[in-house]
Amino acid sequence: MSQRVYIFDTTLRDGEQVPGCQLTTEEKIVVAKELERLGVDVIEAGFPISSPGDFRSVVEISKAVSEPTICALSRAVKGDIDAAGEALKFAKRGRIHTGIGSSDIHIRNKFNSSRERILEQAVAAVKHAKSYVEDVEFYAEDAGRADLAFLAQLTRAVIGAGATVVNIPDTTGYCLPDEYGKKIAYIYEHVDNVHQATISIHCHNDLGLATANTLAGVMNGARQVEVTINGIGERAGNTSLEEVVMALKVRKELGFYTNVDSTRLYPVSNLVSQMMHMPVQANKAIVGRNAFAHSSGIHQDGFLKHSENYEIMNPQDVGIDKSMIVLTARSGRHALKHRLELLGYRYEKPDLDSLYVRFLDMADIRKEVNDKDLMELVR
Ligand code: KIV
Ligand code: ZN
Repeated sequence: MSQRVYIFDTTLRDGEQVPGCQLTTEEKIVVAKELERLGVDVIEAGFPISSPGDFRSVVEISKAVSEPTICALSRAVKGDIDAAGEALKFAKRGRIHTGIGSSDIHIRNKFNSSRERILEQAVAAVKHAKSYVEDVEFYAEDAGRADLAFLAQLTRAVIGAGATVVNIPDTTGYCLPDEYGKKIAYIYEHVDNVHQATISIHCHNDLGLATANTLAGVMNGARQVEVTINGIGERAGNTSLEEVVMALKVRKELGFYTNVDSTRLYPVSNLVSQMMHMPVQANKAIVGRNAFAHSSGIHQDGFLKHSENYEIMNPQDVGIDKSMIVLTARSGRHALKHRLELLGYRYEKPDLDSLYVRFLDMADIRKEVNDKDLMELVR
C-alpha cells in the first residue's frame, strides 16, 4: 500500500524572503488560493513578527484559504510565538513553526549558547506555542551539520513537549543524499517517542542536492516535505515542489503519493514566476521551457516513433499542452517531415532530401527554424 507524503509549501515564506520576490498581501492571497487548488497540505504563509505586512498576510491568508493548514514561522522566542499565535487566529487549521539552531556552529556562533540552554529554550518554545494551537512544528535549524546524538536528544525533548511535527532542515544545503537519509534513519532508530510526531524534511540547494536529499529523507521515514514552487528560496533556493511531486509520481515503485494535482504544476509555476519576477531556467526539470522539447535528430526521430523513447512522463501530466520538436541544424529529416505535415505539406523522398539541404542552410543561419521560416522554405 502506498503511503502519503504531506506537502508543506513555503513559497510564501522561505521563497518570498528572496530579494526581489516580495509580494503584497493581495498577491500572496492569489498565490495561496492557487496552492490550495494545487492540493498542498500546508501553506507557510509568513513570519508574522518580521513586519506588519507579513503579520497581515498571515491573517488574510488564514481567512481566504480553508483547506490546507496555515502555518506561521517564529523563532524560539516568546514575542515571535505570540505574534504567530495572534496572526493565526482566523485559521481553520493553524500551525506554529518555531525553532532554534541545533548545530554546534549555530549554538556557538549565532546564539553564544550551550546545548543544555538550547534544549531548554526549545522545550519552552514548543510549550508556549501549544497555548495557541494544537499543531506545533519545531525546526532544528542547521540539522544538516548538527551532532546526531544531540539532534536525537532535541527531537525527543520537543516531541515530549508536544511538537506534532519535527523539521530536520539542511539549512545550508551541506548534506549528501546518503548522509541525509542516514540522519533521518538515525532519528527513527534513536528517538523512542518519534512515532508521536511527523518527521519533516526541509532542504536547501547550495550543492544542487535539495531534491535528492528530500527523496532520501522520505525513503528513510520522513512523511512531510518542505518545498517551494520553482525551487525559489534563500541563496540557491529550496527543494522544488514540482520535482519531488513528479519524482514520487513517476517512480511509483517507491510506494508514495501526494495530494497534489500535478496538472496544475505548470500554471502555478508560471504564476509564481511572473508575480515574483523570477524567471524559470529553460532547462529546469518539469516546468522549464525545454523540459519537453526535443532538439537533436536522434532524439526527435526516437520521440516521433514512440514518445516513451525519450519522455518519462506526459507533458499533460504537469499541465503542459504538448511536447515540442525544436527545429535546428541538429534536427533530422523525420522531424522536418513531421513538422511540415502539421502545417499541411506532405514531402517524400527525393523532394524531402532537397528541401532538407535547404533547411540545414537556413538553420545554420537562423539557429531555430519556426513555422514561418518553414513556409518560406516551402515557397
Ligand atoms: O532553512 C531553514 O532552516 C529554515 C527554517 C526557518 C525552517 O528555513
Ligand atoms: Zn529554509
